[in-house]
Amino acid sequence: MAKHNIGPVENFPVNKGVCVEAGGKRVAIFNTTGQFYGIDDTCPHRGASFAEGTLSGTVVACPWHGAETDVRTGRCGPPSPAPVNTYEVSSDGETLFLDID
Ligand code: FES
Repeated sequence: MAKHNIGPVENFPVNKGVCVEAGGKRVAIFNTTGQFYGIDDTCPHRGASFAEGTLSGTVVACPWHGAETDVRTGRCGPPSPAPVNTYEVSSDGETLFLDID
């Protein structure tokens, strides 16, 4: 796993998604009141950006057709045909780091 610096913690507001690019991937980072999670940004259904979806707790609803995806596990509800990858996000208190192969 390689750790990528994805910027200061304050760039990732609570209950919002932010899309970052690291290690050749687009990853949606979610701040669920202080816990950070990363999932593939692209919805497996038709390719919407999960970072633009609405986060409720640890579930983000795809902005296009509403597939409900758990940001902790990557499990997606219908109409998404498949789950998404998850990525570990860590912090040193000031900066976030994303682990990608
Ligand atoms: S593009 Fe995400 S549910 Fe359709």
